[in-house]
Amino acid sequence: MASPLVRRIVEDCSSSCEADADLQEASVVTVRSVMASERLPELLVGTDRLLLRRWVAADAELLAVAVAESLEHLRPWMPWVAQEPLSLQRRRAMIEEWEQAWLRGGDVVVGAFVGARVAGGCGLHRRIGCGGLEIGYWTHPAFLRTGIATTAVAMLTDAAVAVPGITRVEIHHDRANEASAGIPRTLGYHLIGQVADEPQAPGEIGVECRWRITREQWARPGPEEELGPPHAAAARRPKRQSSRPARTIACAWVLSLGVDAFLAGEVLR
Ligand SMILES: CC(C)(COP(=O)(O)OP(=O)(O)OC[C@H]1O[C@@H](n2cnc3c(N)ncnc32)[C@H](O)[C@@H]1OP(=O)(O)O)[C@@H](O)C(=O)NCCC(=O)NCCS
Repeated sequence: MASPLVRRIVEDCSSSCEADADLQEASVVTVRSVMASERLPELLVGTDRLLLRRWVAADAELLAVAVAESLEHLRPWMPWVAQEPLSLQRRRAMIEEWEQAWLRGGDVVVGAFVGARVAGGCGLHRRIGCGGLEIGYWTHPAFLRTGIATTAVAMLTDAAVAVPGITRVEIHHDRANEASAGIPRTLGYHLIGQVADEPQAPGEIGVECRWRITREQWARPGPEEELGPPHAAAARRPKRQSSRPARTIACAWVLSLGVDAFLAGEVLR
C-alpha cells in the first residue's frame, strides 16, 4: 500500500506530466525515490561559516527569537507571519511536524546559521509537481544584503539537482517583492512566467513571478569558468566579490552525517 506522500506524488505526476515524456520519466524516478525513502538533504556546509541544517525541536527558542526579531520585515511577504507569535509548545510541535514530513521524503525546512547565529531560514519544497523542487527563503534583518539568501539558494540548488529525479528547481515570489527577485536573477535562473495568484500576504499584489533553472542549466559553466579547473557548481555561483562574508560557496553535501550527529559533535562548538 503506497503511503499518502507517494499517492500524492503519483497523482501530481499523472496530472502535470501527461504531455511531457521526459517529465513522466522523471516522475517515475521521483516516485521510486520516495518509495525508497529518498530524503531531501538535511545538512549543507558552505564556506565563510554559512551552514544550512534542518531545524530540530531543540531549536524552538532560537527560531522564536529570530522570527520575533524579523517579524516586521517578513510580514509583507511571508503569509505564516500572521500566525505569530507561536507558543513555544506550538513551535516545537511545528518543527516536529517538519521532521516527520522530511522523514517521509517530504519537504526539508532548514535554518541558515553563521556561527551560532540564525541568519535566516529556507527550504526545499515538493509543491511544484514531479521532477521539481521549489526553494523558499528569508533573511534575518541583521544579515540583509550580505549575500546570505543568494548563497543559501545556491547551496540548495546544488543539493536539489543532486536529488534523484529532480530535473528543475523553481523560485516563486510576488511581483512586488523586488528584493526576492534579486536572488534568482543573480543566480542565473530564468523567469518563465507571471501568473495571477491570490495575494497571501499584505505586501503582495497578486502576480506570482516564477523562475526556473534546470539541472543542465545549473551544471553549465559560465564562459570564464571554462578556462579554469573544474569546481563544484556551487563554487561558481554567485559571481560576486569575495570580500563580503558568505559569498564564496564551496558547498559540501555531508551525506554521511545527520543533523543529530552533527549537533552532538564538535562542529558547532
Ligand atoms: C528577499 C530576501 C530573502 C533577500 O535576502 P538577502 O540575504 O538580503 O539577499 P542577498 O544579500 O543575497 O541579495 C541578493 C540580491 O538581491 C537583490 N536585493 C536584495 N535585497 C534587496 C532590496 N531590499 N531591494 C532591491 N534589491 C534587493 C540585490 O540585487 C542583491 O544583490 P546586491 O546586494 O549585490 O545588490 C530578504 O529581503 C527577506 O528576507 N525578505 C523578506 C522575506 C521574503 O521576501 N522572502 C522571499 C519570499 S518569496
